[in-house]
Amino acid sequence: MGGGFYISKFVGVVGIVFGAGAVATVIALAVVYSQEVAKNEAVSPTNGGSTVKPPVTTPGGSTVVPQVTTPVIPTTAPSNEAWDKYRLPDTLKPEHYNLTLWPRLTVNAQGLYIFTGKSYVVFQCVKETDLILIHSNKLNYTKWGDDHLAKLSALGSTPVPTIKKSWLQPTTQFLVLELNGKLAVGESYQLDTVFVGELADDLGGFYRSVYLEEGEEKVVATTQMQPTDARKAFPCFDEPAMKAIFHITLLHPPTTNALVIMQKCCIMILNKTSSYCPTSFDETKKMSTYLLAFIVSDYDYINSTSDNVLIRIYARKKAIADGQGEYALNKTGPILKFFEKYYNATYPLPKSDQIALPDFNAGAMENWGLITYRETALLYDPNMSSNSNKERIATIIAHELAHMWFGNLVTLRWWNDLWLNEGFASYVEYLGANEAEPDWNIKDLIVLGDVHRVFAVDALASSHPLSSKEEDIQKPEQISELFDAISYSKVRSSIFSTYLNTFAYDNTVYTDLWDHLQMAVNSTGTSLPTGQTVHSIMNRWVLQMGFPVVTINTATGMINQQHFLLDPATAGSVPPSDFSYVWIVPIRWMKTGLLQKQTWLEDKTVTGESWILANLNVSGYYRVNYDNANWERLLNSIPVINRAQLVDDAFNLARAKYINTTLALRTTKYLRREREYMPWESALDNLDFFYLMFDRSEVYGDMQAYLKYQVEPLFKHFENITRNWTDVPNGHTDQYNQVNAIRVACSTGMEECQTLTKGWYSQWMKDSAKNPIHPNLRTTVYCSAIAAGGAAEWEFGWTQFKAATIAIEADKLRFALACTKQPWLLNKYLEYTLDATKIRKQDATSTIVYIASNVVGQSLAWDFMRDRWSYIFTQYGGGSFSFSNLINGVTKRFSTEFELKQLKQFQADNSEVGFGSGTLAVSQSIERTTANIKWVAENKKSVQEWFYAEVPK
Ligand code: BES
Ligand code: ZN
Repeated sequence: MGGGFYISKFVGVVGIVFGAGAVATVIALAVVYSQEVAKNEAVSPTNGGSTVKPPVTTPGGSTVVPQVTTPVIPTTAPSNEAWDKYRLPDTLKPEHYNLTLWPRLTVNAQGLYIFTGKSYVVFQCVKETDLILIHSNKLNYTKWGDDHLAKLSALGSTPVPTIKKSWLQPTTQFLVLELNGKLAVGESYQLDTVFVGELADDLGGFYRSVYLEEGEEKVVATTQMQPTDARKAFPCFDEPAMKAIFHITLLHPPTTNALVIMQKCCIMILNKTSSYCPTSFDETKKMSTYLLAFIVSDYDYINSTSDNVLIRIYARKKAIADGQGEYALNKTGPILKFFEKYYNATYPLPKSDQIALPDFNAGAMENWGLITYRETALLYDPNMSSNSNKERIATIIAHELAHMWFGNLVTLRWWNDLWLNEGFASYVEYLGANEAEPDWNIKDLIVLGDVHRVFAVDALASSHPLSSKEEDIQKPEQISELFDAISYSKVRSSIFSTYLNTFAYDNTVYTDLWDHLQMAVNSTGTSLPTGQTVHSIMNRWVLQMGFPVVTINTATGMINQQHFLLDPATAGSVPPSDFSYVWIVPIRWMKTGLLQKQTWLEDKTVTGESWILANLNVSGYYRVNYDNANWERLLNSIPVINRAQLVDDAFNLARAKYINTTLALRTTKYLRREREYMPWESALDNLDFFYLMFDRSEVYGDMQAYLKYQVEPLFKHFENITRNWTDVPNGHTDQYNQVNAIRVACSTGMEECQTLTKGWYSQWMKDSAKNPIHPNLRTTVYCSAIAAGGAAEWEFGWTQFKAATIAIEADKLRFALACTKQPWLLNKYLEYTLDATKIRKQDATSTIVYIASNVVGQSLAWDFMRDRWSYIFTQYGGGSFSFSNLINGVTKRFSTEFELKQLKQFQADNSEVGFGSGTLAVSQSIERTTANIKWVAENKKSVQEWFYAEVPK
């Protein structure tokens, strides 16, 4: 397709490699940018392209719902016609759309919220055809005089063929028009439609979000198009490569404001009695449908300008009045400036709006010029928000702003390349956030946030390569499934971290990025392994799933690599790879405290009496194993650098049976002396698996005793430095570790800790207007107090949850309410998750997962999910992105044959309903459970003995 510039894997990967060094990405993107601008100019109305028509008038003409059609579906048996395929044919290319939408913010006579729309699209015929396929989902059309669902006209001189047959094809989500003659190549045509859709509370397409303000229920009409829901708002060629220009008009009550990705161009004032007014917006740049957004609300906003870009933060009136938008407003300008410099390209639009929505499925969405957020991801209040909330806001803003160039200006051609889009944004979000909060050392947190997260799933035989084949990604649910940890985190952890320090480059003239990179490597004398090129090295990380474990044997001097699988028994079910699961691994290593020169695995042999530590700063996407003697030497002197990684490697190598579990446990012994956050967090993340496996067994008591003993000095440390919990530690990560200290001390039964948290909470219960708990500690303190308490503590928490004026406070309580040990309260809470008046739909799945994380709630949540699967699945949207979280979350403790049987039964029972974006999660859960069963059988006894022996009696 001609329109726009797209990321090919080729450009993208190199862009990413360069991106790490910033300067050269800039070259890549600048080139991309200039091409994009040229393309846009070529089709703009002032430059000889076809003109965009003036806004259309009210669809339907009144508040009466237009006549609704019944879909006409041919009764023929399933065939292999074009409309049975999910992808658009390559015959037509959209040029511009003119769209008017009118959301009704009150219910109609049938008790429904609806929107009506009128739209036309001008498209060019690029290959002769007598068929028009345009995406359309859950829309009903008003018939035209000729009894068809759309009107077709020609813009050129060629006569337009008449429509033979028109119908909707719900499975593939098309509006189909069969014509009596052919469309002519090179000619432009216009397709007009008038339609109506439901403004449902389903978080997709054009949908409604509802909130209470001063006792009054307010409705926001808003959108979430990515990946495939633009077609639920209006008929469109809904694929990312089908870029076009959009001219949008919104009809809305005069008391509300309308927002679109562009600025308003004209507001037509109707007479005062009118119940709506139309607002039109400047035409957009050439762009993909998934990046559109339109919103009608009665929100307030705050604004500023930064280098001629208008920055606005929109939110509920009360939130704006309380100053909750200030932090985001203050940080947006600097982050935008940072990216302009980083990409060497000015921000492509005149304005940047960001809006917080009470109901929103993802965390945030990078609509071009109108970024949407869930409230917790944008709104901040220093008296209510923790440092972790603040970090999330800074990083998520940086992530979405990064997409304004990489993703929006330069767009993936098809969803199989999603990993480039999300992976790149997930990397540069750290750079942007670091700019916003330079004191946080935020880049260090990549190891915990991503490397560990993605290692966990990428070590399963049911993992997948970063890049999928285009033809394997067809259906909407297959697209949704791609938004997983591999896409988000592997790029960052593998490509960047592996090659950041490996390839040298300079920023000479851009010719061909691969060649350029290769030339730079040649000119600086960076040696690549024999026979390898930049291209061949990169392919191994992108085209095959998984990652290697590098084994260093200091006794024999041998180093080798192997595909790391959490369960070695699954090796047989791993799909074949063109690269035989061999990687080209750069080694950064250290010998008895001395940094060694970077080399490639192939070139290396090591021997020695002293300790050797490889993969310094976790710069490579691989795990490292050593011979026992070296492990012993490392354990005795645990070097400061890499402590967190050493712990994580040891635990995972033990899971995969490379080393003994007790050796892994031994890496936690020194924690009594450790005060730093990273190693603690790494150890706690790993011990979490032991809790999941053993908190229903006799191992639990000894494990608790060990951890209580280990955390004591940390708890005392924070008690001291905060002067008996009255101060806040200075450092960002120290504040995190203070939370760890309290969480672990309280949950392992340290009395002093429990007295502290119960005391704070009951003080709050006595005077609910005065919360004495510091925002950093609230989640943990609430959880601990509700776990120790009964109905009174729970009900108080619930009341505060409903009364919270900022979403992040509500979220802390929503988490803590799942901590109660009372089954009846947990069951009541589970019921609430399917009542949208109690728990918002956006929060339902995470709440169920919280309950399942509680050892008492585990089986209750599993029963609940099994029982209601078909309801949850249909009510909560087949494409929603949390089904995989739900399934993985509810089954993560599974470790018995009986549970495995139930899981398989669940899979079989629901084969008809399906699992949508959770399909892969079901097979991952089965694989994980199988591995857990074996692991428990093999380790239970030795683990219990070890814990028992390590606690002084
Ligand atoms: N494009 C995504 C949002 C999205 C995800 C839409 C899946 C539709 C389906 C956005 O850029 C994003 O990645 N958001 C993340 C936050 C980010 C900081 C990782 C999210 O929503 O969690
Ligand atoms: Zn993203």
